[in-house]
Amino acid sequence: MSYNLLKGKKGLIFGALNENSIAWKVARRAVEEGAEIVLTNTAVSIRMGTINQLAEQCGTIVVPADATSVPDLERLIDRTMEHFGGKFDFILHSIGMSLNVRKGRKYDDLDYDYLAKTLDISAISFHKVIQVARKKDALNDWGSIVALTYIAAQRTLYGYNDMADAKALLESIARSFGYIYGREKHVRINTVSQSPTPTTAGSGVMGMGDLMDFADRTSPLGNATADDCAGYVLTLFSDLTRKVTMQNLYHDGGFSSMGMSRRAMKLYEKGLEVEYQDIKNKI
Ligand SMILES: NC(=O)c1ccc[n+]([C@@H]2O[C@H](COP(=O)([O-])OP(=O)(O)OC[C@H]3O[C@@H](n4cnc5c(N)ncnc54)[C@H](O)[C@@H]3O)[C@@H](O)[C@H]2O)c1
Repeated sequence: MSYNLLKGKKGLIFGALNENSIAWKVARRAVEEGAEIVLTNTAVSIRMGTINQLAEQCGTIVVPADATSVPDLERLIDRTMEHFGGKFDFILHSIGMSLNVRKGRKYDDLDYDYLAKTLDISAISFHKVIQVARKKDALNDWGSIVALTYIAAQRTLYGYNDMADAKALLESIARSFGYIYGREKHVRINTVSQSPTPTTAGSGVMGMGDLMDFADRTSPLGNATADDCAGYVLTLFSDLTRKVTMQNLYHDGGFSSMGMSRRAMKLYEKGLEVEYQDIKNKI
């Protein structure tokens, strides 16, 4: 169902790799809500993934750019403004990658070159995108910028590794730049802290299946899906949220406010019974 929430708005969307990607769902919903969009991803991800199909569905173009490269971002913003015939209204940063996670390096045995890459790709790229957009005066007044994040920035969740540090930096950039861009152009900058979601990036996290199950059992509303996330992000691009800025907004079915739920407790009790039985059998 469409509410025409983004009628007349134009936006740039980073991070759609395939149809599981959160950015994919945001792109589809944004167009359904009346927006015009431009899609971007790295040249490799464009080749390996299916973003060109998404572009066809959305009637738009894909511009290759590595979000860690300022010259790439400058070309991307120029090309996007050329496509739209001027300024635009929103940006989605939906980018994350850790070589330490990919290569199975644990948090107490990090490769520091990999760590530098994690921070550059998953957090500093957000600063680069905003800085380039602002220098080129690419966004209309009252524009909106959103990045996706995860609660591992605030709480320790075993297995999330150096991505937790990247997310903490990402959220800080939203606050620091949110002040500057808000003061000057009323552009708002927020992060959305999403439930664990089955995507390519998500599946790289150690114990992702268990983590998703735990979060689902703990949250009163259950995990938020990628589709749910798209709906929430659209409200942040719309005029209904013009005074929301510099916030980290949880979109997680209530997980962030929970300690222990009845559903999770029941499973824990069952596990304990099995453990006691094992001990009894051994005596
Ligand atoms: N999946 C989850 O459980 C979950 C939960 C909370 C937050 N998030 C966040 O959501 C965002 C999107 O991830 P997703 O889960 O949709 O996975 P995904 O794998 O579909 O998307 C990650 C994207 O990052 C892109 N990317 C990587 N390096 C890049 C670079 N140098 N320049 C430009 N793009 C680059 C990839 O090509 C890919 O499209 C990420 O920030 C992720 O951390 C995911």
